[in-house]
Amino acid sequence: MQAVLDYLVSNESRFIADLSNYVRIPSVSAQPSHAPDMQRAAEWIRDHCCGIGLEAELHPTPGNPVLIARTPRQKNRKRPHYLVYGHYDVQPPEPFELWHSAPFEPIQRGRSLFGRGASDNKGQHLAHLNAIEAYLKTGTELPCDLTFLIEGEEEIGSNHLAQFLRTKRNELKCDGVVISDTGIPSLKQPALTCALRGIVAFELKVIGPNRDLHSGLFGGSVDNPALVLCQMLAKTRDSKGRITIPGFYDEVVKLTSAERREMAKLPFNERKESRFLGVPQLFGEKGFTVIEQRGTRPTLEINGLTSGYQGIGNKTIVPSWASAKITCRLVPDQKPEGLRKKIIQYLRTICPPTVKLQITSDHGGEPYHVSSESPQAQAALRALRSAFGHEPVLLREGGSIPIVNDFKKILGVDTLLLGLALPDDNAHSPNEKFNLDCYAKGMRLGALLWQELGRVSENDSA
Ligand code: BES
Ligand code: ZN
Repeated sequence: MQAVLDYLVSNESRFIADLSNYVRIPSVSAQPSHAPDMQRAAEWIRDHCCGIGLEAELHPTPGNPVLIARTPRQKNRKRPHYLVYGHYDVQPPEPFELWHSAPFEPIQRGRSLFGRGASDNKGQHLAHLNAIEAYLKTGTELPCDLTFLIEGEEEIGSNHLAQFLRTKRNELKCDGVVISDTGIPSLKQPALTCALRGIVAFELKVIGPNRDLHSGLFGGSVDNPALVLCQMLAKTRDSKGRITIPGFYDEVVKLTSAERREMAKLPFNERKESRFLGVPQLFGEKGFTVIEQRGTRPTLEINGLTSGYQGIGNKTIVPSWASAKITCRLVPDQKPEGLRKKIIQYLRTICPPTVKLQITSDHGGEPYHVSSESPQAQAALRALRSAFGHEPVLLREGGSIPIVNDFKKILGVDTLLLGLALPDDNAHSPNEKFNLDCYAKGMRLGALLWQELGRVSENDSA
């Protein structure tokens, strides 16, 4: 084992160069113009896997290709089998002008590598691959069989992956899934994430006159779609931060006092946080702490708002239409499709007769909650402790990884969420970076985890 850990240390600068090459490919899944880059990123990671000694191939889907890469199997020897999931797609880098260096020209400053996708998620799954490279190149026996599954549509809802899992159900049969695509509060607080929020996405379009109109000639006599949209959206939340859509909270499971006590143990400083985010004050649903608001309460967010003239100077018009991109984050036991119905029904009820309303549904994913008591979770906690040299914490996080529920439903297994991202990594924001100490610790974790998980399943089956 020491040889594996030494290999990771002595190859660190090449691992950073590999990650830089990977980040250089602008694999933005949301933008069709990047289709060739999606293919290039998929091929890059496939070639990388082949290069370190895995058996790797790309599988076409109706969307972007999925990479499957296997560690060499031993005949006549059954070892526990784990699936390691990651995604090679990244969020759009816009607005470009806020980046201090170009998003797809990765640069290292201090112990940070800047670039879109460095943290979310290229650096995090590459850390696991580096750990496997170390096993294979030092001739150290891997205690588990591993299959890497790296997809290219996580940031747009993983719409084609569930069907892919169904067709590969036998090949992907495993004892559990491991994902590093979540966060840690700091390098001194490695974390096992036990819950993720779900999501439901849609776009709302308020349609008014059949063209932009002169606001002097027509204004006051034709409804303004932008104003209607704002009024409707304003009716989705009250002053206490509660969503006003009827039935929105019906399925929300109440937190137990033990859960609340557990979350209250995590250090959190509101003043520091508002300074970090550049807001005068934090805002959130009354009666819940910030950690509870983020990890355990549902939300409705406007992600984008568009209408009228947005060029330089002004233009006196009543815009023809206005639109909003919206996502809700869901918590156990809310279901995306049930929520979608309630939201659409409410919006239709509050829409005035002076405009038309068009609602386009987008992706959805269920919330996830798993026990930290299982033998696998305990093994992961041991690996975290020794990789980071600090006591791990348990987290409920606010982000979503839609496929984890499908792993449960289709493959029948739980997921260990062992994130490597720091709160200031700027995931989805300008100036995303990956902390290279997280990268190094992540590789150590990737090395130690299979030792721990190898032992668990031996004991379980004994
Ligand atoms: N890495 C995130 C998910 C995440 C981040 C979970 C931090 C927990 C903590 C992932 O890449 C992501 O951004 N997912 C999307 C999914 C959506 C587009 C369906 C999200 O949460 O917005
Ligand atoms: Zn993301």
